[in-house]
Amino acid sequence: MEPISRDGTGKPGTGKRMCVVGASGKLGRHMVRHALDRGYEVVGVCREQSVDKLAEFEGRITVLPGMTDDREVIARAVDGCDAVLTVLVPWGVHHYASGTAQAVLDHAPPGARLVFSCGWHITRDGKDVYTRRFRLYAAVFGRLAKLARVVDVDDQVAACRRVFASDTRWTVVRGSDLEEGDSQGLPVWSRHVGDPVLASNLTRRVDYARFMVEAVENDDLVHEAPAIVGRLTPSALAHAGGPA
Ligand SMILES: NC(=O)c1ccc[n+]([C@@H]2O[C@H](COP(=O)([O-])OP(=O)(O)OC[C@H]3O[C@@H](n4cnc5c(N)ncnc54)[C@H](OP(=O)(O)O)[C@@H]3O)[C@@H](O)[C@H]2O)c1
Repeated sequence: MEPISRDGTGKPGTGKRMCVVGASGKLGRHMVRHALDRGYEVVGVCREQSVDKLAEFEGRITVLPGMTDDREVIARAVDGCDAVLTVLVPWGVHHYASGTAQAVLDHAPPGARLVFSCGWHITRDGKDVYTRRFRLYAAVFGRLAKLARVVDVDDQVAACRRVFASDTRWTVVRGSDLEEGDSQGLPVWSRHVGDPVLASNLTRRVDYARFMVEAVENDDLVHEAPAIVGRLTPSALAHAGGPA
């Protein structure tokens, strides 16, 4: 597939290129907006049938249509990129998430900042503490979705394990429940679900995207799996003060 468009943003650029893998989704489009606002040249990857969802960016970004686990598409998209932001989704039962993660890990330029999205259910060190409700929901949803062959959460877990084991400059941003609405500012984060600061379990989607984009320039987040929560939520207001 040929790229659909390429142009500058009209704003003073950073001279840096950012690839957004999964650009047409809700999170992806917010990330594209944040990246353009910050002066990045943006390359987006999305499924062919979803290219129209990026119409608002026409002439301002390059779009490479394709499945996000298509290694050839990813190799072309990440070529020359300083950062790659990947929306990790466990669709289907054909290892979509792990295929996507592996393609990015294998093809991103050495030293590029890699930032992946997932939910709180992913644990890096097994020290996260989940409520009984969360565990029940995750177990029931995960099992039913896999039975229906719609979603394979286990594959998203496998994808993140590959990221954690890689020697790239990765960050895995673990999202809480999400809501729409205006920005509340950069979410606060903690290393472990169960930490009191995260108890509200809610983040504005626009701010989740902002956290992903700003993580690129934050070396403190390299090799971290921050779990995030909205900065104006009750738990953040009561307990924010830095990661535990
Ligand atoms: N409660 C939550 O929603 C929640 C909580 C925590 C973290 N997260 C994380 O947030 C991220 C996604 O959020 P989002 O707001 O962007 O969701 P979204 O708008 O539903 O988009 C998700 C992505 O999945 C793709 N997709 C949808 N159906 C597909 C299919 N059948 N096959 C292949 N790809 C498909 C979409 O591509 P198209 O545009 O082509 O459809 C898009 O790139 C994920 O990493 C998720 O783990 C979500």
